[in-house]
Amino acid sequence: MIDDTLATEVILQAEAILEASEALVQERLQRLMQYLHDRLPHFHWVGIYWLKDNELVLGPYVGAPTEHVRIPVGRGVCGTAVAENMNQIVEDVRKLDNYLACSLETRSEIVVLIRHPNTGKILGQIDVDGTEVGAFDESDEALLDVISERVARLVLAHGIGL
Ligand code: SME
Repeated sequence: MIDDTLATEVILQAEAILEASEALVQERLQRLMQYLHDRLPHFHWVGIYWLKDNELVLGPYVGAPTEHVRIPVGRGVCGTAVAENMNQIVEDVRKLDNYLACSLETRSEIVVLIRHPNTGKILGQIDVDGTEVGAFDESDEALLDVISERVARLVLAHGIGL
């Protein structure tokens, strides 16, 4: 749960990080992941996957390293978001069959799609894991939707810079 005051603060800070023109795009995205992780205690693992040729490829992230650096569309929560063209909020990952475990501590997950601002085409996604059941709700989705839009504009203007 993220209240309006916190959401406003996080969006302003995220914009400042993404607009820091002295840093490479890749560095700005890494800083953004670090900021979200540090500012929002329920964001235990947070990262970006880019959609490339029907596969999700792990980009910048903060949290424990994951073996899931490439995820085919349709697999896991991340791949389902792309296959269904829909953000995902999973209250309890232990109740899912189509789930790829990154960490045994993870209990809930949210995936918000990064879309082309004009066409809606999926460019990637922000994936967040939490250690509590039901850590994420519509307020997290609304915040991540705004941040995803800012990320999309940045990478479209400058390239992903991988
Ligand atoms: N749990 C995800 C895989 C990515 S990790 O959470 C970082 C999934 O089921 O797609």
